[in-house]
Amino acid sequence: MCGIVGFIGREEAAPILLDGLARLEYRGYDSAGIAVYGAKEGLQVVKAKGRLRVLDDIVAGGKTIHGHMGLGHTRWATHGEPSDVNSHPHVSEDGRIAVVHNGIIENYVEIKEFLQAQGVHFASETDTEVVAQLLEYYYKDGQDDLLGAVVKVLHRIQGAYAFGIICADRPDELIAARKDSPLILGYGKGFHFLASDVTAVIKYTREVSYLDDGDIAVLTADGIQVYDALLQPVEKERCHVDWEISAAEKGGYEHFMAKEIMEQPKAFRDTVFPRIQDGRVVLDDLSLTPDYLREVDKLYIIACGSSYHVGMTAKYTLERLLRKPVEVTLASEFRYCDPIVTDKTLALVISQSGETIDTLAAMREAKRLGARVLSIVNVVGSTIARESDDVLYTWAGPEIAVATTKAYSTQLALVYLIGLYCARALETIRAADYDAIVEELLLIPTKLEAILENREDIQYFASLYFNHPSIFFIGRNIDYAVGLEGSLKLKEISYIHSEAYAAGELKHGTISLIEPGTLVVALAGYRPLFEKTMSNVVEVKSRGADVLGLTTQSRGDEIQKTVDHAILIPDTHPMLLPSLEVVPLQLFAYYVALMRGCDIDKPRNLAKSVTVE
Ligand code: F6R
Repeated sequence: MCGIVGFIGREEAAPILLDGLARLEYRGYDSAGIAVYGAKEGLQVVKAKGRLRVLDDIVAGGKTIHGHMGLGHTRWATHGEPSDVNSHPHVSEDGRIAVVHNGIIENYVEIKEFLQAQGVHFASETDTEVVAQLLEYYYKDGQDDLLGAVVKVLHRIQGAYAFGIICADRPDELIAARKDSPLILGYGKGFHFLASDVTAVIKYTREVSYLDDGDIAVLTADGIQVYDALLQPVEKERCHVDWEISAAEKGGYEHFMAKEIMEQPKAFRDTVFPRIQDGRVVLDDLSLTPDYLREVDKLYIIACGSSYHVGMTAKYTLERLLRKPVEVTLASEFRYCDPIVTDKTLALVISQSGETIDTLAAMREAKRLGARVLSIVNVVGSTIARESDDVLYTWAGPEIAVATTKAYSTQLALVYLIGLYCARALETIRAADYDAIVEELLLIPTKLEAILENREDIQYFASLYFNHPSIFFIGRNIDYAVGLEGSLKLKEISYIHSEAYAAGELKHGTISLIEPGTLVVALAGYRPLFEKTMSNVVEVKSRGADVLGLTTQSRGDEIQKTVDHAILIPDTHPMLLPSLEVVPLQLFAYYVALMRGCDIDKPRNLAKSVTVE
């Protein structure tokens, strides 16, 4: 949710922190702030409601603030409305200690009351301020042992956190701590970083390590020492980040979302092609043996949002391929629904960020109940990736736009690979079918390129419908699953009300909402159910709906007889259809949002990585 960055070195910290925040802003953009310690200036804290550019203007790009150590924060508000005073960093009452935080302190009310009873005055409504104040309380009490005070605070608080902490008495030291919220360390020559993710540091260093829950790190300009929760030193494995900084920049596009939509053919290739050798799916990084797979009695797919929509598609695909029951559950529901999980359950956890707290918590619960976890993750080294029994990376590169596109597409690609791999191991697929799907998989990137080349058609349809107040998506089977994603894309970035329905379900209630002029996007790509879906299209047409149909080229003539406008995509194997269908829907949402003047990369109220429950 929020993004945090900390720097300690020999250069001016403020411009580096602002640069880091610019790359983390997708994590939250209600407000931003920095705290920098300078030998002459002392602790300088500037924070402002609104986008980072507001803060950037106030501090003239960092020129008005001096010092070699500091913290930055970009906020997605949870406790306390977006305002200057509720922005981070939060500072203790005596002005010595500054804290940035990503997460939620669940018992903050009790701690606040305790401190208020000691005479401490609070400035903000946030949960985070209790950490700054409690730190000062223990710091004074413990003869200025900052690390000792941090440990006491961590024992006292409950909840999720990634912290950056500085103290005016310790101008050479930055402290980091984490539990259930992501935090990485960046290593340079004469400087070090803490950050919510590597995008904030990649311009300065490619050497990073990932903190684990309970870790506390002390950073100086010349080194980093990491401790476990008992203050025993721990060694951290260092990783080299090998993607280019340009991957996290717009590269000439107006929006990250447009760039990421256009990157999908490459992302699909990068995810799939190295894993197909001599016509076979090779998943060397998987340790699922045929014996184990035969024992599996159920697959549980756990995910949120768009990743959940991938799970919805996966249910159709995997049940068909593996002939085993597949249940798809929203991660936020899984923990609390008393799920039926045994040691024969394989949990497939899908998460772009690998940090979504609902998904992480559900995954831990599934493991606790005995499931084996296979995750599909984009962010290397993220918590879900590290805690899974097996992980397959999507290799989509960094995804910056809040609305996912290329991560969704590469998650789908991995679902196909997992399905084929397991079906072959279980011998639930005929060799000819296997070969046909593998062959077709290799053609998907070229077909994606063809769809993207025709994006002006989609732009035209968007120009016809961008003022519609409410848009429905209908389809059957995997068309329905893709419709869910098309609808989410549209509503999250264009703020148009939208719903996706299984086409056959309309007449059980929702059809009452259809009136003359209502736009219905009808997905009819799934060949076996084309006629059935078209019957539902006729039903909405006869109630006055405008219908934008989506199907494959071979059905173009047929669909055009019924709908007002049609989007035609290349034909493919029915199982792979979602990969092609979703792209026009992403483009449609993008162009509609563009025409409505929306903030496409940073839609209101949202944040990229949802690290609070
Ligand atoms: C929508 C979107 C979200 C995420 C969801 C899960 O465009 O991106 O719905 O899919 O928040 O995030 P991850 O996949 O990071 O767990």
